[in-house]
Amino acid sequence: MTCRICLSSTHVLLDMGESPPANSLKEAANQPEDFYPLVLERCNTCANVQLRDCIAPEKLYSRYLYMTPDSPSLTQHYAFLAGELTDRAVLRSGSLVVEIGSNTGKFLRHLQPFVRKVVGIDPAANICEVANQSGIETICDFFNDTSAEVLKERFGRPALIVARHCFAHNPDPHEMLRGVTRLLDGDGYFVVENAYLLNTVENNEFDQIYHEHMFYYSIRSMQALLAQHGMHIVDVLMVPVHGGSIVFLIKKIAPGDQLGAAVEEGARREDHALTPETFNRFVANTLEIRRRLREKVSDLLGTRQRIYTYGATAKGNTLLNFVGISAAEIPFCVDSTPAKHGRYLPKSNIKVISEEEGLASPPDYFLLTAWNYRDEIIAKVRRRGNVRSKFIVPIPSVSVL
Ligand code: TYD
Repeated sequence: MTCRICLSSTHVLLDMGESPPANSLKEAANQPEDFYPLVLERCNTCANVQLRDCIAPEKLYSRYLYMTPDSPSLTQHYAFLAGELTDRAVLRSGSLVVEIGSNTGKFLRHLQPFVRKVVGIDPAANICEVANQSGIETICDFFNDTSAEVLKERFGRPALIVARHCFAHNPDPHEMLRGVTRLLDGDGYFVVENAYLLNTVENNEFDQIYHEHMFYYSIRSMQALLAQHGMHIVDVLMVPVHGGSIVFLIKKIAPGDQLGAAVEEGARREDHALTPETFNRFVANTLEIRRRLREKVSDLLGTRQRIYTYGATAKGNTLLNFVGISAAEIPFCVDSTPAKHGRYLPKSNIKVISEEEGLASPPDYFLLTAWNYRDEIIAKVRRRGNVRSKFIVPIPSVSVL
């Protein structure tokens, strides 16, 4: 097909078959669902890795169940980012900050003490309501050229625009960048945080592949994209959230811009590491995880062990559906998000219950579908007195803790 960054041709890396959108939890089991192909492909020219078939964002985000969880590791991460941005004088007492895909406003709340004003923009009406009620001003809209103009008229030009784990959630990044270049202050920063392709591939995180993740960014592919908009990466930070993410610090190209050494070092590492052999290995490891997890679950059920999944995550739904696990084998999924309770996971029909309910009658094994919060979830379960349930961790390879 066609690369949505540079319009060259692409080749398929991995075809995972068809699945429903990973965050489309259902009100009733066996409710009819729409299935869409899940095919990962790579550009033959610019290093872009993308999902071949994109679902319209309006369909994915108008009512959204993902709410940023309360998590010590995320709180720590927000404080780290606020510190980095303050040290680089990106956050100043007189400045305005706009966050795209701001969800319930948890990150903006961390930036609020350092700046004049924070504003969020998010397309999900139910999520905006939660954010506004909690005192983080949030506009309910998609971010594009048109909404950027509205924001500019209403609030002025921000010194910082942030897009955390949402920049890849749109089939057309050029449209978002037109909005960014229109809105951002001349000397301002655009900060994008995204799962990092190199980590995704090296850690066998095939479950990061779902319909919201329309791009799998690297330094090279981001450079190819930004060059078309008169912007460039001035620095990058590697952070541990979501299985290994990258933070791109981006500016409009201006004379005298200093580029951090990490940018070119990182890009060269990618040139060396992201070869066709690496992608072949990634595919082979993905198939091996599927085989081993299928076998593990069947073996445990054969000896009458009870299994629940932990974390009603988007990535978990890719994993369960790719491996072929359903409610007949695993009846419940434990999750801390109240809006997900009583709903059913797409395709697998596993019912979501609260952590309290899950821990009141714990299973023998939890399949950790929120493996990115492994240590804190296991610590939480043990702290609540459960020392018996074991954890099956699927990524980077199937292991039992
Ligand atoms: P996340 O890792 O953001 O996953 P994805 O992007 O794949 O959807 O979601 C974490 C999920 O795990 C979220 O639904 C809340 C849940 N969760 C718990 O149930 N308990 C916890 O202690 C934590 C940290 C998260």
